Amino acid sequence: AEQRVKWVVGNWKMHGRLAENASLLQSVAEGTGPLADVIRIGVCVPTPYLAQAQALLSGQPLAWGVQDVSTYTHGAYTGEVAAEMACEFGATLAIVGHSERRAYHAESSGLVAAKARRALEAGLTPIVCIGETLDEREAGTTEAVVGAQLDSVLNLLSVEEAARIIIAYEPVWAIGTGRSATAEQAQEVHAFLRARLAQKDASLARVALLYGGSVKPENAQVLFGQADIDGGLIGGASLKSQDFLAICAAA
Ligand code: G3P
Repeated sequence: AEQRVKWVVGNWKMHGRLAENASLLQSVAEGTGPLADVIRIGVCVPTPYLAQAQALLSGQPLAWGVQDVSTYTHGAYTGEVAAEMACEFGATLAIVGHSERRAYHAESSGLVAAKARRALEAGLTPIVCIGETLDEREAGTTEAVVGAQLDSVLNLLSVEEAARIIIAYEPVWAIGTGRSATAEQAQEVHAFLRARLAQKDASLARVALLYGGSVKPENAQVLFGQADIDGGLIGGASLKSQDFLAICAAA
């Protein structure tokens, strides 16, 4: 992969408590030090733990961020968190459009695109998640589904903005199921997405494309060895420092 940035990012989802976070963050920060020249590593924590991440990770080669942002900067939006608020705690990353938010919070591709733009405006790097369900894959509509999800974002952003995003391809059927996509399945979709990005503008061929869905130390190397896979977005395995570090080493 020519000059593309490699990333491994942990998505803690709604896991963690202060005490366990402290030991996890410390051991991950220690372990990632030697890898920092080769890849970028980050963790997206539950929002209340941003201050803890900032306190423990400042000065370390490990980025932190949130798992969602509001489309607004401030206002009467009970329960929402503005991207600027995350920035005040040193966050640099924001997952947007995770399939769990699309499914359980009815987030449309249009809303996800607006969140990606909001994150960029605030100075965060959005990690835009896209992916098909099992029904969609079995119906042969994977490319139509992920293509439309990608287009929603590309249609809203300028080329300069789009060049700053990260995309995570997460087939819904592979998330938390222990059933990862095969390297060939993942590579096929990544190649499709990269071609679609390049079609919008040649410069977008360099956008980092991460794979997510049951990445473990055992399958990370073959997944990350694919031509168009630039790293991973890691759920369950990001909660164990040894597993997460082994996955980082595989990138
Ligand atoms: O965002 C990462 C995620 O959805 C994958 O979760 O637990 O299958 O690695 P997991």
